[in-house]
Amino acid sequence: MGIHQIEMTVNGEPVRADVPARRLLADFLREDLHLTGTKQGCDTGICGACTVLVDGHPVKSCLSLAVMSRGCAVRTVEGLCQGQTLHRLQQSFMRCGGLQCGYCTPGMLMSACALLESNPRPTAEQVRAALGGNLCRCTGYTQIVESVLAAAEATDGD
Ligand code: FES
Ligand code: FES
Repeated sequence: MGIHQIEMTVNGEPVRADVPARRLLADFLREDLHLTGTKQGCDTGICGACTVLVDGHPVKSCLSLAVMSRGCAVRTVEGLCQGQTLHRLQQSFMRCGGLQCGYCTPGMLMSACALLESNPRPTAEQVRAALGGNLCRCTGYTQIVESVLAAAEATDGD
């Protein structure tokens, strides 16, 4: 199996690494870069726990090879906050009760982040559609949707 040199930015920091062709992006982020905020739940593309942003688009990193992100800007949940200041989505998830377990929440946040960056004022239906690939076996999703809508309102005037 060939080794490939890849370069990308991860949460704004330049990264260069040699990776096997079949190295999953999820494994690369978690094991090589020690960014364990990204979770692996199903490893089959169903649960969304592993969602990260690649050039602004939500990607299930358990289905994506690290080499596929060569030259891209990758963002993980660790990159959401600015220093000690939580991202407005993180704040609204806390405030509105959208905060769930450590497995599903990072992926939910990243999918929601991609949505708000492309559609700053989504409807509840659009939020549900954007989070359609993020599963939680424990919730009715209502507070998660409310959290995303609250974060969208918090962007008003920015
Ligand atoms: S771990 Fe990737 S979708 Fe479940
Ligand atoms: S899977 Fe995270 S709270 Fe249900």
